[in-house]
Amino acid sequence: MSTNIDHVLHEDRSFPPSEAFRSAARISSEEEYDAIWRRSIDDPDGFWGEVARQIPWIKPFDQVLDWSDAPRAKWFGGGQLNASAVCLDQHLISGRKDKTAILWEGEPGDQVSYTYAELHDAVCRFANVLKARGIKKGDRVAIYMPMIPELAMATLACARIGAIHSVIFGGFSASSIRDRIEDGSCTAVITSDGGWRRGKVLPLKDVVDEALADLPGSDEAGVHTVLVVKRTENDVAWHEGRDCWYHDELAKVSGECPPEPMESEDTLFLLYTSGSTGKPKGIQHTTGGYMVGTYLTTQFVFDLREDDIYWCTADVGWITGHSYIVYGPLANGATVVMYEGAPNQPHPGRFWELIAKHKVTILYTAPTAIRAFMRWGDEHVDKHDLSSLRLLGTVGEPINPEAWIWYRQKIGGGRCPIVDTWWQTETGGIMMTPLPGVSATKPGSCMKPFFGVDPVILDSDGVEVEGDAGGYLALRKPWPSMLRGIWGDYERFVETYWSKFKGMYFPGDGARLDKDGCTWIMGRVDDVLNVSGHRLSTMEIESALVSHGAVCEAAVVPRPDEITGQAIVAFVSLAGDASKSDELVAELGAHVSKEIGKLARPADIRFADALPKTRSGKIMRRLLKDVAAGREIAGDTTTLEDMSVIESLRDG
Ligand code: PRX
Repeated sequence: MSTNIDHVLHEDRSFPPSEAFRSAARISSEEEYDAIWRRSIDDPDGFWGEVARQIPWIKPFDQVLDWSDAPRAKWFGGGQLNASAVCLDQHLISGRKDKTAILWEGEPGDQVSYTYAELHDAVCRFANVLKARGIKKGDRVAIYMPMIPELAMATLACARIGAIHSVIFGGFSASSIRDRIEDGSCTAVITSDGGWRRGKVLPLKDVVDEALADLPGSDEAGVHTVLVVKRTENDVAWHEGRDCWYHDELAKVSGECPPEPMESEDTLFLLYTSGSTGKPKGIQHTTGGYMVGTYLTTQFVFDLREDDIYWCTADVGWITGHSYIVYGPLANGATVVMYEGAPNQPHPGRFWELIAKHKVTILYTAPTAIRAFMRWGDEHVDKHDLSSLRLLGTVGEPINPEAWIWYRQKIGGGRCPIVDTWWQTETGGIMMTPLPGVSATKPGSCMKPFFGVDPVILDSDGVEVEGDAGGYLALRKPWPSMLRGIWGDYERFVETYWSKFKGMYFPGDGARLDKDGCTWIMGRVDDVLNVSGHRLSTMEIESALVSHGAVCEAAVVPRPDEITGQAIVAFVSLAGDASKSDELVAELGAHVSKEIGKLARPADIRFADALPKTRSGKIMRRLLKDVAAGREIAGDTTTLEDMSVIESLRDG
């Protein structure tokens, strides 16, 4: 039986760009977009070859795409380049030497800015520090840092010497860091003594110490270096021989560091993300394709101009920060704003104050942040002059029309186009989006495919759905910034992304096309949660819960949440001698924080005597979702083994 997905959202409003925006935009008509998109699909080699030649190569490529061993793609074969040279060196000779590259502000209000020449120098020195510590091409380096300029420098310094960075978001726990270091066999960690968040110092180095303490064999084959950037006055423990202060090492090195020539397909970085199993996947991105993809999307999606002040509020610990704080904007020579702290520190208008102060022109943020700002109240926005803004973007989760309209009116003053960009860690760059000078945007729709992207919506049998019914989103063509694998597990890569629909990439999202051919993303169709735009696996949280002695079984489901999009609800049944109590709820929450990170802590933990299962023993999460959301149980319950289980959960 084929199935597709029901949709309930009806949204008919649409907002074309103003004439002033349109006439100055890089692409300014549907016809122009259609023609370029059509060419990118009909002649991908011609299209991507031309784009790729716009970034600097050390050795030109001889072939655009080799897809003969699909899904193992080879983009720009024969070519050599260095991502840090694309982001920095080219601008030193293009007249951008003295242009501001990074404009940084710390949470306490301290500020630093770097011109392209200064950033180049800092990255070369950073790279020499890594070299002096014995780190070389191909080594994996974990980075666990606050949002300070040295985080961007650390990624670029790795890229400069050909080391593979694996950035771990600063909110992850010691045990999550350990798993990632182990999975990637990292030999060095770059961290900081602390970072500011909500008026407090997060002790990042302590968390790294804890992660490494548990790591078997770390003295021999494991982590030989922990490089510590001093950000705060936080006291840190010291492991002689392994730990070193970045500023001490910096004093010993020169600013001369030629970029390592990398093959186009050499790995640039790993970034771990959650899938539908308990173990996070090390998504692997390579150099040439990723740089070409992020370079082009940044330019067209944000309609980037030389004098823009561009601010993406993501953390570099996520893919959005990799692609749209570091690599894409710097490859284009943009001025990038970077902010360390929380949006409501010291007051709920901090973002708007930053925009007014730095005259930000492009703001790229997440729906969850927009919903929080709405709740904090318009008065915090009204105090600040946001007239410098000309373009707004969102990413990470579906945006509800109400938040979209607020963003447009309140932040964009009704004049800024909004680009709602759909993509994933795996896609490396933006895949579906309005083009700001073209699209009559609809609140909640990511509109049309970007160049080279060929989406289709299928039912469960792989048949294209008719009309505007919902179905599974799939992509029919490879694209340059696509993931090349899951680190150490090629089979899982093939199985997860390339086996549901033959010859197509399956991102795991549901979507529908409306009568105008605009795309509406309907969320994940697998066991992946999206909390505040962060991807979490139900299975990962469940295994964290059952690793606690009191729990014998756990099922985790999302329920809708006004601010975070989804909130985590956990149903747990207890081991024989454990008793239900508020203390145990708190303890289980703390346990999940410790195992994964605070971001995975359930909003709601409920005790259940039994979980609803099919006769074959599979937990029926579908029913639990209804219970969690306080809805009537919908759909078929005939496969449920024991109906009374559901009744008692609902009553309880
Ligand atoms: O479900 C989609 C949702 O976020 C998932 C990707 O998460 P992650 O790899 O963490 O990357 C987030 C930043 C790119 C997608 O599978 N998602 C992302 N952007 C949107 C979205 N859902 C709806 N609309 C979007 N604009």
